[in-house]
Amino acid sequence: MNNTVVVGAQWGDEGKAKITDLLAQYADVIIRYQGGCNAGHTVVVNNETYKFHLIPSGVLYDNKFCFIGAGTVIHPETFLKETQELIERGVNLSSLKISPLATITLPYHIDIDGISENSAKQVKIGTTKKGIGPTYSDKIGRYGLKIQDLYDEELLNSRLDAILPLKNKILEKVYNSKTYSKEEMLDYCKKYAEIFRPYVCLDWVEKLSTALKEDKKILFEGAQGIMLDIDYGTYPFVTSSNPIGGGAATGSGVGPTHIDNVIGVTKAYVTRVGEGPFITELTDETGEKIRNIGGEFGTTTGRPRRCGWFDAVLSRYCVLVGGLTQMAITKIDVFNDFDELKVCVAYKDTRDGKIYKDYPTNINMHKYLEPVYETFKGWKTDISGAKSLEELPENARIYLNKLEELVGIPVKIISVGPDREQTIILDNPFKKK
Ligand code: GDP
Ligand code: IMO
Ligand code: MG
Repeated sequence: MNNTVVVGAQWGDEGKAKITDLLAQYADVIIRYQGGCNAGHTVVVNNETYKFHLIPSGVLYDNKFCFIGAGTVIHPETFLKETQELIERGVNLSSLKISPLATITLPYHIDIDGISENSAKQVKIGTTKKGIGPTYSDKIGRYGLKIQDLYDEELLNSRLDAILPLKNKILEKVYNSKTYSKEEMLDYCKKYAEIFRPYVCLDWVEKLSTALKEDKKILFEGAQGIMLDIDYGTYPFVTSSNPIGGGAATGSGVGPTHIDNVIGVTKAYVTRVGEGPFITELTDETGEKIRNIGGEFGTTTGRPRRCGWFDAVLSRYCVLVGGLTQMAITKIDVFNDFDELKVCVAYKDTRDGKIYKDYPTNINMHKYLEPVYETFKGWKTDISGAKSLEELPENARIYLNKLEELVGIPVKIISVGPDREQTIILDNPFKKK
């Protein structure tokens, strides 16, 4: 058993999709376990770029069981568009399956997300406006629709009778927004029931049980990142699901005793999209330089990403709450042309000089914290063609060693460019006995 979770260990966009795609060639089953089309996952193979939102990033290989788990939320239009585009590009989707327990993002979830974000009265989170918070709220409040509900007319009718009157009242009275008739929603559900039909995996329990019994290799793909986790992230500036390693168990239906490795994907620096605290953020020309060289603009929304130095305090916290066993460091090539690099090793409270080596989870005090940095020499060499650790310049190896030492877990994968091939795998979790 070498089942492995790929989890974002910052605020998302760490390069999870690249690592998932890379490891998927050695796996039998690939499961997306949480999030929805707020995710923007980029895979580059031989100069061809694929951007996934809902579909697992392992789908480019034939004959892998690619599963969208119960912990996800599915926006029907995005699913349709994404599958159509992939089919047009010749990708074989015959092994793509959706859990009947996944929750559906309905049109009013998108409406509410947009209105809340634009409202002056509510805390601005800077969401992707993909209806994520409202869909998960309804799921937890038991006002959601699951994929399986689409195929039972009686149940669907009674669910809509229970949900719509309340939802319409809220849409009208609270959000001053358009309402939805039952006929309209039934038509919508019927249309997408047919679109989802070939993908719905009714025998998922048998499939996953058999995979485990036969010792198949399972790869779990996280979306977002640990610092966006609803429980452990910088609340309320978070997403509405659990990207942490533990989320792989709850979101996939494969329990925690079947998980062996949790790879924390971590950029060689830090980025964040949307609002919320970011202690190592660089608002100067260095931040601008990282953004431009790193192409740090959102895959889903196109928004410029906020950039800053690597934060070892935050990474150590991610090791704890994410259950990380190892790191995959991505985008180290972005530093090819930097004279020096900084790494945050602790936070200093500007009020009393107190030093924090452990991440303080009360974000209200983050405005008083400033980073304590160690400085490293850059390598001023193009490393994007490096195929082994030995081919990396000494200063790049010193930097990586320091990250390992500060974070306390080993670096097992080093990514030196966006392409599948531009990766140094020091230890492949699926190649162990
Ligand atoms: P994800 O959401 O974690 O899957 O990451 P995104 O796809 O949103 O953003 C990562 C971006 O960095 C994508 O454009 C990738 O193609 C790119 N990328 C991934 N790894 C590397 C790397 O090692 N070097 C460079 N230069 N780009 C990378
Ligand atoms: P991937 O999987 C980066 C951020 C949004 C916002 C907050 C809440 O590509 O790493 P939401 O729409 O989820 O309610 O927004 O979370 N966010 C992401 N940031 N990468 C993502 O996904 C994100 N998904 C959501 O910017 O700050
Ligand atoms: Mg992304």
